[in-house]
Amino acid sequence: MRLLAAFFVALFASASALATDGNAGRGEEIYTRCLACHALAHNRVGPRHCGLFGRKAGSVPNYAYSSAMKKYGVTWNEETLARFIENPLRTVPGTKMGYAGVKDRQERADLIAYLKQATADPKLCE
Ligand code: HEC
Repeated sequence: MRLLAAFFVALFASASALATDGNAGRGEEIYTRCLACHALAHNRVGPRHCGLFGRKAGSVPNYAYSSAMKKYGVTWNEETLARFIENPLRTVPGTKMGYAGVKDRQERADLIAYLKQATADPKLCE
């Protein structure tokens, strides 16, 4: 009985880790979807992603944001990014990011783990 309980504790622990921990390697593959419009180091159809964490939404110089994004007011972190990326058009009505979003929770976690590393990597962001 005690063994069985330990088994379920272990099972639950690994399941919850799966739901929250991102795998940056898998995230890099998911980021190829974003590369249709974004680059890490420079503005394209969408704004550059380098320096994303800790930056205010709509604040990259020389990028023409929608007024919706300029007014959005959040600072990008794991939580605000997850909310935006899940459903950009619902989270920021009027955004010009015409992309349906990443619906899978694990994919979002992987993507954010990658973004966290890559957007702060001096080799990728000079
Ligand atoms: C179809 C083109 C397109 C795709 C694909 C796309 N984006 Fe965007 N993204 C944009 C545009 C355009 C904006 C500017 C939005 C605005 O001003 O309303 C933007 C804005 C953003 C912002 C806000 C940045 C800031 O400086 O405030 C984030 C974060 C973002 N995108 C992340 C992503 C991620 C992650 C993906 C891939 C899952 C992605 N985008 C895919 C076009 C795209």
